Amino acid sequence: MKKVALIYSFNSTKTAKIAEKIIKEWADESLIPVNAENIDENTFMAYDQLILGVPTWFDGELPNYWDEFVPAIDDLNLNGKTFAIYGLGDQVNYSENFLDAVGIMASLLESRGASLIGFTRSEGYNFERSRSIRGDQFLGLAIDYENQHQLTDSRIKSWVKQLKEEFGK
Ligand SMILES: Cc1cc2nc3c(=O)[nH]c(=O)nc-3n(C[C@H](O)[C@H](O)[C@H](O)COP(=O)(O)O)c2cc1C
Repeated sequence: MKKVALIYSFNSTKTAKIAEKIIKEWADESLIPVNAENIDENTFMAYDQLILGVPTWFDGELPNYWDEFVPAIDDLNLNGKTFAIYGLGDQVNYSENFLDAVGIMASLLESRGASLIGFTRSEGYNFERSRSIRGDQFLGLAIDYENQHQLTDSRIKSWVKQLKEEFGK
């Protein structure tokens, strides 16, 4: 079975909790957890299918561990690779930058030739602005742990089902 990397910070709190839920829902050995805190180009390039956990920090920015890896991604050829991104954000307290980091990461990956899958409808969220929106969809899965925690499990369940179809599992 083809491996899929699930790359997120093992030191994060909520992003790691969501990763655990994704692993449980995925329910087979093809999903390989990888720590974003010490990711390098070789590990990144070893997979053709990748899921990235990307919370938004600092008023619309990537967290430090992803930001530090941006220059490396900028030098990679990602043609033929497929990515899905799950983001965490707070649509009430950061309504003008909700989930922006997903949009930043998505643009970066696409600029290097990667394909993105796992887009989801923006219905059911309420915010002013987001860089993660294209048309009426998020460029990944949008998790708002602070304000919509009760919807998290069902959102993960349907996203994993969608990813398995789109990754061709
Ligand atoms: C200092 C700080 C800045 C944040 N900035 C944003 C933001 O600009 N946009 C957003 O959607 N969420 C923002 N958030 C909310 C986080 O993305 C959210 O709490 C997320 O669950 C954090 O995940 P983590 O604990 O795994 O890093 C911010 C949170 C903090 C504490």
